[in-house]
Amino acid sequence: MTLRIAVLGAGPSGLAQLRAFDAARRAGADVPEVVCFEKQSDLGGMWNYTWRTGLDAHGEPVHASMYRYLWSNGPKECLEFADYSFEEHFGRPIASYPPRPVLRDYIMGRIERSDLRGQIRFDTAVHSVEYSEDTGRFTVTVRKLEDDQLVAEEFDYVVVATGHFSTPNAPGFKGLDQFPGRVLHAHDFRDACEFTGKDLLLVGSSYSAEDIGTQCHKYGARSVTFSYRSAPMGYQWPEAFDERPLLQHVEGNTAHFIDGSSRDVDAIILCTGYQHHFPFLPDALTLRTSNRLYPQDLYKGVFWIDNPKLIYLGMQDQYYTFNMFDAQAWLARDMILGRIPLPDAQAMRADSDRWFARENAASSVDEDIDFQAAYVRDLVDRTDYPEFAIEQVAEMFKEWMRDKAEGILDYRNKSYRSTITGTLAPPHHTPWMEAMDDSLEAFLEASTVPEPETERELARA
Ligand SMILES: Cc1cc2nc3c(=O)[nH]c(=O)nc-3n(C[C@H](O)[C@H](O)[C@H](O)COP(=O)(O)OP(=O)(O)OC[C@H]3O[C@@H](n4cnc5c(N)ncnc54)[C@H](O)[C@@H]3O)c2cc1C
Ligand SMILES: NC(=O)c1ccc[n+]([C@@H]2O[C@H](COP(=O)([O-])OP(=O)(O)OC[C@H]3O[C@@H](n4cnc5c(N)ncnc54)[C@H](OP(=O)(O)O)[C@@H]3O)[C@@H](O)[C@H]2O)c1
Repeated sequence: MTLRIAVLGAGPSGLAQLRAFDAARRAGADVPEVVCFEKQSDLGGMWNYTWRTGLDAHGEPVHASMYRYLWSNGPKECLEFADYSFEEHFGRPIASYPPRPVLRDYIMGRIERSDLRGQIRFDTAVHSVEYSEDTGRFTVTVRKLEDDQLVAEEFDYVVVATGHFSTPNAPGFKGLDQFPGRVLHAHDFRDACEFTGKDLLLVGSSYSAEDIGTQCHKYGARSVTFSYRSAPMGYQWPEAFDERPLLQHVEGNTAHFIDGSSRDVDAIILCTGYQHHFPFLPDALTLRTSNRLYPQDLYKGVFWIDNPKLIYLGMQDQYYTFNMFDAQAWLARDMILGRIPLPDAQAMRADSDRWFARENAASSVDEDIDFQAAYVRDLVDRTDYPEFAIEQVAEMFKEWMRDKAEGILDYRNKSYRSTITGTLAPPHHTPWMEAMDDSLEAFLEASTVPEPETERELARA
């Protein structure tokens, strides 16, 4: 009997799983039947933009947390697929920091070119997953959204690739219920133009706060105040920005902070992160973790130790993204194909505990980056995923951090060299602060400027 694999979600992680099996099939392997369930109408996951917030047209929670005018916050050279370069997709070199539609096009291109769309059942929300000890199989029940029908099917393996940046972590603060302006979580943020001319308070000090804050500034917010819990971001902020310690309470439109200071604001955006949330899974199969580089209970960050036929992709906090999801998917594939035997549960737990402790021992951003590089290396070395310069990419991440420290509004104007093609990205035709049009057409317009060797490149050589 042919094995059946259910892949839940058609974002970059789920698509990596489809691509991994397809690569094996093209190389002559006998591969299982793969069915991917996706509640949206198209592939791309988080990279699909929607104006909707709250519930979608079918009453399902809206997945998207991305917003208009979102540009990649890291160099594209750090996430490039090892088996499908940007140059192969676009037919020429492009700048290092593309806006969302460009990255979406790239993600989709790899799948379209290998003709895998037919494996995805769109408008189909996973409703529940059950495992039977008797049959050793999973029953996956989905809701077909167009005709509101529940349908159940059996599978031998389930790959959970539903992402973890969609269910808001939204703490309350005294007085928010009486605040006269808008209060929203980053998940529901869509368009910075709504806040032109406003004084904003953003709670949180990580990527969402930084990016939504700088973007609102770019589109004309009067001021942006960040409120941090653990530590300020500490960038050399231009005058319109301010960092304050944690918000204590709100009185009218005045925000009071724990150091006794206060500030009048027009709107409050909670950039306080997300929860891992799997409402379709039973307790015994549910991953419970904070947003960290090595979630516990997963062997190689992927296999659910108590039942390794359940596989999680992309559940880590992420420096590496698309190429790490690929590395995970290739490993999951090879375990399913019987090419890689799994050790017993005790050995898997010991391995997972070692990685978990190693992450805990990392004490700086550079060490976190090296940790994730070592993790990706450990995966890639076990499969035939094309070798890519993982450690060189780690150095690029560190350079990216330094670029941000040098100029938080300028770092997206820098160029990086692809480790896949060796090409140095051309500069974008417009500095990020002046690039108001984030469409694919506008981005590709003139990014063929011949590549200059930058001073930084020459210094490195
Ligand atoms: C605001 C924001 C900006 C980001 N910017 C960047 C960036 O610049 N660069 C970068 O590399 N990464 C970025 N990321 C990280 C991003 O999450 C990853 O790049 C990537 O999208 C993760 O892929 P994934 O497939 O694991 O999850 P997702 O992309 O979230 O895809 C999960 C898929 O599962 C589907 N799904 C969920 N629940 C169900 C269900 N019950 N039934 C059926 N389908 C379901 C969803 O519809 C979705 O299609 C950003 C994240 C956020 C939130
Ligand atoms: N343009 C882009 O590419 C872009 C834009 C936005 C987001 N992203 C991506 O989106 C993902 C999620 O980023 P994120 O910033 O939303 O989440 P995150 O990195 O998990 O950070 C969560 C933030 O919320 C704070 N926080 C949590 N609970 C809090 C509380 N009760 N009170 C006050 N503060 C609290 C945390 O503070 P502590 O430090 O104290 O824990 C932290 O600063 C990342 O992968 C990021 O790369 C990308």
